[in-house]
Amino acid sequence: KSQFPAGSAEENSKMTLITQLRISMYESALSLNSYPNIYGAKYSGIIDRGAYTKPSDHLLCKFKKSVKVKTVLPKFEPFKVNGFGKLLKSENILQKQHFNSCAIVSSSGALLGSNMGQEIDSHDFVVRFNNAPTESYEQDVGTKTSLRIVNSQVVAHPVYEFLVSSMFENVSLLVWDPSNYTAALETWYNNPDIDFFNDFFEKRRTCPYQDMHLLHPRTLWRLWDFIQGHSPVNIHPNPPSSGFLGLLLMLEHCNIVKMYEYVPSTRVTSRCHYYDNIEEIGCTTGEWHPLAAEKLLALAMSIASDEEVFEKGFLKIKGFNKLDC
Ligand code: C5P
Repeated sequence: KSQFPAGSAEENSKMTLITQLRISMYESALSLNSYPNIYGAKYSGIIDRGAYTKPSDHLLCKFKKSVKVKTVLPKFEPFKVNGFGKLLKSENILQKQHFNSCAIVSSSGALLGSNMGQEIDSHDFVVRFNNAPTESYEQDVGTKTSLRIVNSQVVAHPVYEFLVSSMFENVSLLVWDPSNYTAALETWYNNPDIDFFNDFFEKRRTCPYQDMHLLHPRTLWRLWDFIQGHSPVNIHPNPPSSGFLGLLLMLEHCNIVKMYEYVPSTRVTSRCHYYDNIEEIGCTTGEWHPLAAEKLLALAMSIASDEEVFEKGFLKIKGFNKLDC
């Protein structure tokens, strides 16, 4: 990695950005005593508290071995017997598909003015999240979308128009909703975090050819276990952000993954998303999701230079098939 000269303005900015994430991670840990554990998350494995300091390949090999993205298949109960199984895709998402270079576009406000649209579009596969638009923001975020990772709120809340908006057409979709930490699929189906199943299956019915998958909620908790098992402090007992889920999926299917404005660059701003006016630094450093811990781990996995991460605004992470584990 090329490093900035010691004591330079660039090095100071880098340290400020990393320190912000570390402070946020430690603050989350300090608030845990009074924090509600609504999903009953409870880590019982070994914790490698120094994981950040190890070489990126070491961390990536552990990541590869720890967790895989699984989607709900037609043969899984209760979907097999309740009839909805017929509406589920019979293969895991992106099964047998592999790409050379993949881009993950976080929805961060810091993308505004980044001018990275063309560079993002040059990738073979581009992941976006929820209702993040490209229209009117092409210069900064590009135009190409291969996959949208969407949470159950976006599926169920009428404001997002999930069933009719063109934003959710002609792209692959991966939908997630958190279950309880130990819940079986049946328990989750009877008591989802957000009441989204009707709209999910309605879209499957009306767009049967669309590549649309439902994340197995256990994936979220194995991903959470990985973060907790490699963080220096205890993390919030809530699922990881869509961004970290997207990272795992892309590492499974790409030779190289670039992740845009996930670890904040010097363009960092309190603006939550590039496409709205919400001012909330917690969107970047973490409030509900264990975001700061995720981002510090993703940074430790990255082989991008300091200039690429902190000035240009992207991480560069080797895909799992490029590792020598
Ligand atoms: O807010 P939303 O979940 O739609 O954003 C998509 C993803 O982009 C988040 O899950 C998070 O990983 C990333 N993000 C970020 N910083 C922000 C906003 C979003 O890293 N300020």
